[in-house]
Amino acid sequence: MSVVFDILTVVFFKMDAGRSALALRVLLLAFFTRHVSTEDYFRMGVNTNSAEAMQFLREYDREASGMCYRVTMSQWRFVTNITEYNRRRMLEELTLSSKFERLSWRKAAAYDSSRLPDPQSRRQLTRLVQASRAALPDDKFAEIQQLITEMKEIYNSAKICPYGQKPYDPHVPRVSYNQDFPTNQYQLANQPYQHYQPFNQENPENSNYCDMQLDPEISRILAHSRIESELLYVWKSFRDQTGPKLKNRFMRYVQLANQAAVETGFRDAGDQMRAAYEDPSFRASVEEMYNQVAPLYKQLFTYVRRRLVQRYGETAVRSDGPIPAHLLGNMWAQNWKSITDLVMPFPQSPNVDVTAEMLRQGFTPLRMFQMAEDFYTSLGLKPAPPEFWRGSMLARPPQRSVQCTASAWDFCNRIDYRIKQCTEVTMQDLISTHHEMAHIQYYLQYAEQPQLFRDGANPAFHEAVANAASLSVYNLPHLQRVGLYQNKSHDPYEVSMNFLMTMALEKVAYLPFAFMVDQWRWSVFEDGVQNMNNRWWQMKLRYQGVIPPMPRTENDFDPGSKYHIVSDQEYIKYFLATILEFQIFEQLCSVSGHAGHLHECDIYRSRDAGRLLSEIMQPGSSKPASELIRTMTKGKTNRISPESLVKYFRPLELWLRVQNRDEPLIGWSSNYHDVALFAPQRGAGPALDTPLVLTCLVCVIGYLL
Ligand SMILES: *[C@@H]1O[C@H](CO)[C@@H](O)[C@H](O)[C@H]1NC(C)=O
Ligand SMILES: *[C@@H]1O[C@H](CO)[C@@H](O)[C@H](O)[C@H]1NC(C)=O
Ligand SMILES: *[C@@H]1O[C@H](CO)[C@@H](O)[C@H](O)[C@H]1NC(C)=O
Ligand SMILES: *[C@@H]1O[C@H](CO)[C@@H](O)[C@H](O)[C@H]1NC(C)=O
Ligand SMILES: [Zn+2]
Repeated sequence: MSVVFDILTVVFFKMDAGRSALALRVLLLAFFTRHVSTEDYFRMGVNTNSAEAMQFLREYDREASGMCYRVTMSQWRFVTNITEYNRRRMLEELTLSSKFERLSWRKAAAYDSSRLPDPQSRRQLTRLVQASRAALPDDKFAEIQQLITEMKEIYNSAKICPYGQKPYDPHVPRVSYNQDFPTNQYQLANQPYQHYQPFNQENPENSNYCDMQLDPEISRILAHSRIESELLYVWKSFRDQTGPKLKNRFMRYVQLANQAAVETGFRDAGDQMRAAYEDPSFRASVEEMYNQVAPLYKQLFTYVRRRLVQRYGETAVRSDGPIPAHLLGNMWAQNWKSITDLVMPFPQSPNVDVTAEMLRQGFTPLRMFQMAEDFYTSLGLKPAPPEFWRGSMLARPPQRSVQCTASAWDFCNRIDYRIKQCTEVTMQDLISTHHEMAHIQYYLQYAEQPQLFRDGANPAFHEAVANAASLSVYNLPHLQRVGLYQNKSHDPYEVSMNFLMTMALEKVAYLPFAFMVDQWRWSVFEDGVQNMNNRWWQMKLRYQGVIPPMPRTENDFDPGSKYHIVSDQEYIKYFLATILEFQIFEQLCSVSGHAGHLHECDIYRSRDAGRLLSEIMQPGSSKPASELIRTMTKGKTNRISPESLVKYFRPLELWLRVQNRDEPLIGWSSNYHDVALFAPQRGAGPALDTPLVLTCLVCVIGYLL
């Protein structure tokens, strides 16, 4: 889902939730971690010759576009044809562009951008300079890059043994993960997952026994297993294989990132990351957003907890307590859609899924892309250029190794745009196709901007726009309009509630997690690396209502089980994007003349919606996000607001309130035992020591929120 395409991830063949837009930001991210910022912060250079500065920017634009083209092409060749030769070529290009960027940074930082008469040039220079770590001396700059690379390698090579720890038995039949996973059989049989690992056809004895990786094996166990001890086992084992090995490197990384930030003129690395949002009260703004969505989250949480109590019993889940983190179908308890089967409002009514109908109508990947293109041209937006159809990889090619995560690419030459997706004929891929095509549309719309502005208005925009478009595709009226869904005799209310529940498990359940990750990271940058794991769980408890299923100590490093932490990728943008997508969606629906429930809005064929989308996309990042939001909302506000999201889920919230009417508590309360799972307990005896009292204060506050 992420706009950020992380190239070093690709180098190691693994992606974390990566749907991506690929542009100059790729090379900048790989080597600098770019964060754009307001002008007030930055310590500027002394060169006041503005003619020279403008000349520099013109040259930079040309050279950076060329460099970006070469790097992007080498990356494309590699991920669509994974060979050692292509990897080497790509690394060479990356090294060259790293040198180029560092050199450009030095030149740019020499200018006093405040003296530039042209505000757009001032903005370009600011973008180029402020987000970089190039202020570090050479050795330290190399060191932090090396640390991030190593942390990703450790993360990506984490492997665990199958549950049960049985020695390898060649007579036990094994399932290859290339085969369809027999979800239902598995759930019915209630058998542990131990036979699930790669099967070496040539030599079964040679199969490495302990080689279950996060993707796909471990994630699938967490999604499909309903055996608590097995869930607990994989939850713990993956953390054992990541955190402790990463902790020391992470602490050094914090030190270096902070040094880079300070030398660039920021208070700390969190401050530098937040600057991209150009909002002086950013922290207060996001906290307020969290508070606005918390009541809805707590209704969902309370209902889901009841169902988990029914499934796993009171000994596993307390009726008014937090939820143990391993029961929600996901390694980080961030997306709950895998436990849909446990929480469906009306199990006798169907879940919206048009896959069977697509197969019946003989859909192909090409037809899915044509359908997505038609969606955007129906709004009056641009068709995909011929180069797109020639160059894209729309399905998994036979006989070569490719990296399959769906992503949308901008080759920085205003000609080449491509999508890479191993499309299969499923509803999920149909939505994903529309999503990636929205990124392509975004690239086409801001193509005329200078290279430094070919990006979303802030880091949340690309994803938000792509998801806003998807919201109009994944709903019953639209699927009906394009002939994929027939109104059968099912109760429309029940179908609606099932639909909204699946959306809520993905979007609403995600918000507190997406919020807390950077709360934690900022606190580490700001307050230091002591008690990192304790603070992580304090925040998990306070914001998500989730506790570890077993005791944790400072020897564990549970934030290290999240890829975006170890790979140095900002996370708050996912929180904002999830909120913003509904805000954009509501505006699109409003100009298209939609009346009625928001979750039934379809903007297909609305030229007015297309015009508004175009107004949002065309400026790229040449204007502050607040200005765009002001335009988009017809002057009503300049802020990202969760009102639309809350409105979208309102019918579900009403239903949840009824379901929860007999619950002892909406939300969660934590007790001494919950907190003792992760808080350090120094000394003996009943007297609470200070950290514990503090922690409990935090839980009380968390509960009150
Ligand atoms: C894949 O890359 C190799 C170079 O390693 C090249 O020889 C080959 O032609 C490429 N295959 C395709 C289908 O592009
Ligand atoms: C299979 O692998 C085992 C263990 O590495 C080895 O001892 C054995 O000789 C191999 N058998 C074949 C047929 O390659
Ligand atoms: C939004 O507008 C208000 C005035 O209406 C202004 O004070 C505030 O700074 C603006 N926020 C941003 C982020 O620009
Ligand atoms: C489906 O049909 C029923 C009755 O035939 C109708 O009440 C309902 O509004 C229809 N639903 C949609 C989404 O068109
Ligand atoms: Zn995306």
